Amino acid sequence: MTAKNDRVVLAYSGGLDTSVAIGWIGEQTGREVVAVAVDVGQGGEDLEVIRQRALDCGAVEAYVADARDEFASEYCMPALKANALYEGKYPLVSALSRPVIAKHLVRAAREFGAHTVAHGCTGKGNDQVRFEVSITSMAPDMDCISPIRDLSLTRDVSIAYAEKHNLPIETTKHNPFSIDQNVWGRAIETGFLEDLWNAPTKDVYVYTDDPTYPPLPDEVVITFDKGIPVKIDGRPVTPLEAIQEMNRRAGAQGIGRIDMVEDRLVGIKSREIYEAPGAIALIEAHQALESVTLERMQRRYKRGVEQIWGELVYEAQWYSPLKKSLDAFIEDTQKFVSGDIRMVLHGGRATVNGRKSDASLYDFNLATYDSGDSFDQSSSRGFIDIYGLQSKLAAARDVRLGESSGY
Ligand code: ARG
Repeated sequence: MTAKNDRVVLAYSGGLDTSVAIGWIGEQTGREVVAVAVDVGQGGEDLEVIRQRALDCGAVEAYVADARDEFASEYCMPALKANALYEGKYPLVSALSRPVIAKHLVRAAREFGAHTVAHGCTGKGNDQVRFEVSITSMAPDMDCISPIRDLSLTRDVSIAYAEKHNLPIETTKHNPFSIDQNVWGRAIETGFLEDLWNAPTKDVYVYTDDPTYPPLPDEVVITFDKGIPVKIDGRPVTPLEAIQEMNRRAGAQGIGRIDMVEDRLVGIKSREIYEAPGAIALIEAHQALESVTLERMQRRYKRGVEQIWGELVYEAQWYSPLKKSLDAFIEDTQKFVSGDIRMVLHGGRATVNGRKSDASLYDFNLATYDSGDSFDQSSSRGFIDIYGLQSKLAAARDVRLGESSGY
């Protein structure tokens, strides 16, 4: 399928491994490398510097795709609508970014006439699966290669290669952690965190301040339209701006720190620290608005769908048929998820204390215990007789057959 003169498109981060990978791919395959860096709001180094580094390391073409708005609107917002938390905790930070990066890699491959896409993941994680399954789900004609995994390269080998070839990359400064970050959050693993008994130290955190010594409480009103935050304190915001502002404000209060052991797709349990202040605060607000705007059974059923949606996204199925079907269900549920949520951000928690919606199903006159009550309480008696009928018949049978638990 692949001609010898085919180029290889590499997902380039600017770090040691992917910089070295440019040369390795050239040596192993005899093909030219096009480096693509995708901006998903990871911050840090200037992306123009990263682009130039790719060229200096031997890439024939290098470019940076600004995918920040696209990532926020088309990847983080669906996760918000799904209240997506893998294993009840992890807001899918890295799992959400891989499909959008893969999309830009496929686009670049088409543009530069490549049929092979490369990434710098190891063979032990979820991300290799997410890149490759995403790529072949969008472009079944493409091949994937992974030099770090397939050549079993270690960090020492990378450093030696970079020094031998004089690559313009820092090889001495070794961060003890493996970090992946974007606008939805930050994931930190390895180093002393691999001992499950070791508590994270202060230097692990960047997006959040210590919640033990918080500043004064910060009250915020988030306005949603069909499940998406559209205003903060009355000011219109894009999805990207909403996440950024909540990262700043909830981060200052130490909200969204997560320390967990999770189950990877490849069967390994791993310890991860996450910080996702904006994501956690927005999910809390979104859930609160759903509690007043979703009908009971729809809401209950959605919880099951949310769990499966999160598992699918975690497990590399972003572009799968089932994920698309669940998206359609979730989208339908968001039709009336519009209104205002007021919350107080303080000391590590985002606490909802007010809700308002034109589409609310909360009926004051039905709920009130004061005057104005419009609920006909006499109807409840007959309702309970019928509702409890099956259990009552079963209990009577148990007594008759001597099987009663004897209450
Ligand atoms: N375990 C998380 C996931 O699979 C995060 C992995 C990100 N990588 C990292 N170097 N921390 O989504």
